[in-house]
Amino acid sequence: MKKKAIISGVTGQDGSYMAELLLSKGYELHGLMRRLSSFASGRIDHLFSNPHFHTYHADLTDSPSLSGIISKVKPDEFYNLGAMSHVKVSFEVPQYTLETNTVGVLNVLEILRTLSPKTKFYQASSSEMFGVPGVPPPFNETTPMNPQSPYGVAKLAAFHLTKQYRDGYGMFATTGILFNHESPRRGGTFVTKKVSQAVARIKHGMQDSLVLGNLDAKRDWGWSPEFVEAIHLIMQQKKPDVYVVATGETHTIKEFVEEAFAHVGLDWKKYVKTDKRYIRPNEVPLLLGDASKIKKIGWKPKMKFKDIVHAMIDYDMAHPHDN
Ligand SMILES: NC(=O)c1ccc[n+]([C@@H]2O[C@H](COP(=O)([O-])OP(=O)(O)OC[C@H]3O[C@@H](n4cnc5c(N)ncnc54)[C@H](OP(=O)(O)O)[C@@H]3O)[C@@H](O)[C@H]2O)c1
Repeated sequence: MKKKAIISGVTGQDGSYMAELLLSKGYELHGLMRRLSSFASGRIDHLFSNPHFHTYHADLTDSPSLSGIISKVKPDEFYNLGAMSHVKVSFEVPQYTLETNTVGVLNVLEILRTLSPKTKFYQASSSEMFGVPGVPPPFNETTPMNPQSPYGVAKLAAFHLTKQYRDGYGMFATTGILFNHESPRRGGTFVTKKVSQAVARIKHGMQDSLVLGNLDAKRDWGWSPEFVEAIHLIMQQKKPDVYVVATGETHTIKEFVEEAFAHVGLDWKKYVKTDKRYIRPNEVPLLLGDASKIKKIGWKPKMKFKDIVHAMIDYDMAHPHDN
C-alpha cells in the first residue's frame, strides 16, 4: 500500500521540494492550493502529469475545504507547510498572518483529531520564534522564545498548539524549528532571491541598482531541498518531538550581497543602496541554530553558504526574466 500524504503550501518553495521528495519515495500525494487570481503553480507544474499527484483548492483559514479533503484522503501524513511566510509583510497584515499561521494550524489539528487522529502531523515552525531570546547563540530546542514580529508570534502560538495536541490528545503532532533556507525557488520578495535576481538583471543590463534594508542582520542560511529531507526524517521518528534544523553558521546580509555580486564579477558597492522603507519595526539582529539533536537521528547540512549563493545566482543568470 502506498503511503498517503497531504501537503499544505504545495505551491511554495518547501512544498514543491517536499512534493518531489515524497513522490520519489512512492507516496500518493495530495497537494492543497489556494485559489488566486493568477496562476501560482510554477514550482509544481512539472508534477501535474504524475498520476500519483492530486491537487485541490483549499485554504488554511477555511475549515470546510480542509475537512472535506482530510475525510476523503485519510492521509498517513499531513505536512503543514502553508503559511503567510514573510516576516516584514506580517507587520502589514498581522490579522491575516495570525489567521493563517495560527488559526489555520488549529483548524488542521482539530479536523485531524476528530476525523483522522492517526494521521501524523508536521508543523513548519520557524527560527523567528526565537526573535531576541536574551541568551547567547546558538539557539536550540530549549532556548527561550521572544518573537519580534506578528509572524514570529503566530508561529510560536502554533508551536504551542502543536505541543498541546501532542501532549493532551496523544496525537503524532511533531515539529521542526527551521532556520532560514533558500533555493532558486525562493519567493522574489525574500532578501536572498531579491539579491540573486537583481544581480542577474544588473549583469544582463536589465536593472541599474538594488535597494535593500538592514544589511547587518545575521542569518543561518541552509538549502531548502536538504531541509525538506530533515522534515521527512522528523515525520518518520517513532515519537513526535521538536527539532532545530540549521547549518550552525551565520552570515550577514552584506556577506550574501558581496558573494552574490562577486560571483558575476561585480562590485556590490556600485549598485546597492539602502532605504529605511525596508527596515522592520522590530529587528531580529542574529539567528544561529544548534542542530545537534537532529544530527543524532541522521540529518546534517551539506550545502555551504557560498554554494547556496552561487546556485541561486546561476539559476537567475540563466532565467533573468523569471518573476
Ligand atoms: N523558508 C524559510 O526560510 C522558512 C524558515 C522557517 C519556517 N518556514 C515555514 O516553512 C513553510 C514553508 O516555507 P516556504 O519558504 O516554502 O514559504 P513559501 O514559499 O512562501 O510558501 C508558502 C505556501 O503557503 C501557501 N499559503 C499561504 N497562505 C495560505 C493560506 N491561507 N492557506 C493555504 N495555503 C497558504 C502559499 O500559497 P501561494 O503559492 O498561493 O502563495 C505557498 O504555497 C512556511 O510555513 C514557512 O513559514 C520557512
